[in-house]
Amino acid sequence: MGQLILITSGKGGSGKTTFAVNLAHIYASEGLRTLVLDLNQCLRNADIYMGLESDIIFDLGDVLSGVCRLEKAIVQDERSENLFLLCCPQQRNIEEYAGKRLPELYSRLRSDFDVVIIDPPTGFGELFSAVAKGVDRAVTVITPDHQALRNGDTVDRRLEELGIRRRCFVVNRVVPELWGSEELPGLEEMTRTMRCRLAGVLTEDSGVHIGNNSGRPCASDHDSYLYGVFRNIALNADI
Ligand SMILES: Nc1ncnc2c1ncn2[C@@H]1O[C@H](COP(=O)(O)OP(=O)(O)OP(=O)(O)O)[C@@H](O)[C@H]1O
Ligand SMILES: [Mg+2]
Repeated sequence: MGQLILITSGKGGSGKTTFAVNLAHIYASEGLRTLVLDLNQCLRNADIYMGLESDIIFDLGDVLSGVCRLEKAIVQDERSENLFLLCCPQQRNIEEYAGKRLPELYSRLRSDFDVVIIDPPTGFGELFSAVAKGVDRAVTVITPDHQALRNGDTVDRRLEELGIRRRCFVVNRVVPELWGSEELPGLEEMTRTMRCRLAGVLTEDSGVHIGNNSGRPCASDHDSYLYGVFRNIALNADI
């Protein structure tokens, strides 16, 4: 049975999609059949980050409303035999279907993939709860500032209420020169506040940003040190 991993954050722009896509590249390169499920309705980005924007003809809205079969809306990354993407629509909400149809979709995806990495909708509404319910694990991505930390903790508590026991957090966009500054929360404060396990730290790095914008996520380049950084988190941090 495949594992469903939800990548969350309290604050927008923390790096959910970045982490989701790069994690997917690592799992796929390890031979696991991996799907990125972008559920950020009307605000999706995973297709851009993965370089698959122009390959999308059908989307999850078409599947949920019965326009096409699931297989039709899943796009394969031609550069990796194990990497796939399923996106929600860009112009239409999926809320009306989510509560009823997501459990069925999840069970289907569990049997078709080893790992499904879910990029959830922004916010905390009913759709978020419907998306989070039933996942196996959750990673909350925070940035090293008080705003992201507080909001990340709020999300983590919500995930706990939803019964997700296997949870961890990742600190992203660390600026080394500011590490240790009195004004910003340090690792100890972040670990204490979040309560769940720290799985890794990623620095602010132009290679990550350029990878996203060129449709070649940094973890897809096996010669880059960023591949090593993501691989280490993905495989050694027990996400
Ligand atoms: N470690 C990093 N170094 C440099 N840039 C980064 C890093 N992580 C993310 N970014 C950049 O920060 C921006 C936000 O990242 P991303 O889109 O992954 O966040 P998000 O949490 O998915 O945002 P949203 O809430 O809008 O969905 C993007 O422009 C991305 O390229
Ligand atoms: Mg995003």
